[in-house]
Amino acid sequence: MINSHNNVFFKSPEISDVFSDKSELVMLEGDSSQTLKSIPDNSMRLIITSPPYNIGKSYEKEINLPEYMDNILPTLDEIVRVLANDGSLCWQVGNYVNQSEVFPLDIFYYPYFKERGLKLRNRIVWHFEHGLHASKRFSGRYEVLLWFTKTDDYVFNLDDVRVPSKYPGKTNYKPGDKYGKPSGNPLGKNPSDIWRLMQQEWETALWNIPNVKANHPEKTIHPCQFPIELVERCIFALTNQGDWVLDPYSGSGSAILAALKNGRKAIGCEKEHQYVALTKKRIEDFYNGHLGYRPLGKPVYQPTGREKVSQIPIEWQIDKRQAKK
Ligand SMILES: C[S@@+](CC[C@H](N)C(=O)[O-])C[C@H]1O[C@@H](n2cnc3c(N)ncnc32)[C@H](O)[C@@H]1O
Repeated sequence: MINSHNNVFFKSPEISDVFSDKSELVMLEGDSSQTLKSIPDNSMRLIITSPPYNIGKSYEKEINLPEYMDNILPTLDEIVRVLANDGSLCWQVGNYVNQSEVFPLDIFYYPYFKERGLKLRNRIVWHFEHGLHASKRFSGRYEVLLWFTKTDDYVFNLDDVRVPSKYPGKTNYKPGDKYGKPSGNPLGKNPSDIWRLMQQEWETALWNIPNVKANHPEKTIHPCQFPIELVERCIFALTNQGDWVLDPYSGSGSAILAALKNGRKAIGCEKEHQYVALTKKRIEDFYNGHLGYRPLGKPVYQPTGREKVSQIPIEWQIDKRQAKK
């Protein structure tokens, strides 16, 4: 049985290590260019992933960009094959950086998917406020999620992802039947293609508890996790209950958790045994009610100005006074 929305008290479905129509949850360990071969054609309603960026993380070896793109080709072919005709691919990427030169990966991936017949519906900018401070260019504060569909006939549940309008009381001003009536949608407005989700909280979760080693509730040993909330928005908009969601580079399993949490079936592909084990542990924690995650739609934390990290360091105040003399 598929679990109902956000219900953590159901028993975990069995985690199968091979694909079967009867499964609800599958973890395929190994290289996804191979493991994806066991999944039937046109079967996945949503494929959502963040591939390795070739930036020398612990799970990858940095190589030149053309070689990186060539190596990933067999996997892209498999991804397109298993994507349902009315399904969506969400491909989330940042930059490959070499000797301070920036190569935005979405620009490199776009032609590959276009050549395979996919149609771009949105290039979503996922904006966050914290990260490394660059010294020779402006600091990077967004990544990109390319949303493609396989055909023109695709699931898009806009009402399920509307956000509160800024001015719900706005009314129609043009003369006619609707004059003076509310002009917006009672369910809220379209969330647009710029998403400000919780990334900033990953770094700011410790603001009010300075001496405690405080991590974001979702943080694991994986070096670059999706926030579950990012995946959830895609799941609500682009799938229905009971649909398959696939992450071909599933890492710590955030996409899998987002799918299970919302009554979807999930497949993860991951080559590193330690991340497969981590995903299984997170699934177990989820069904035991022990998984920490940020509730969907929780407002982004706004500093009050009283936190220690919001205040100008005493050393800078002294420097400024001396500079004025
Ligand atoms: C950018 S991370 C994805 C993180 C994931 N979105 C999460 O929330 O944890 C990419 C993952 O792909 C895995 N990976 C890299 N190459 C792979 C391959 N050929 N087949 C399967 N997994 C691979 C890496 O081990 C890494 O965990």
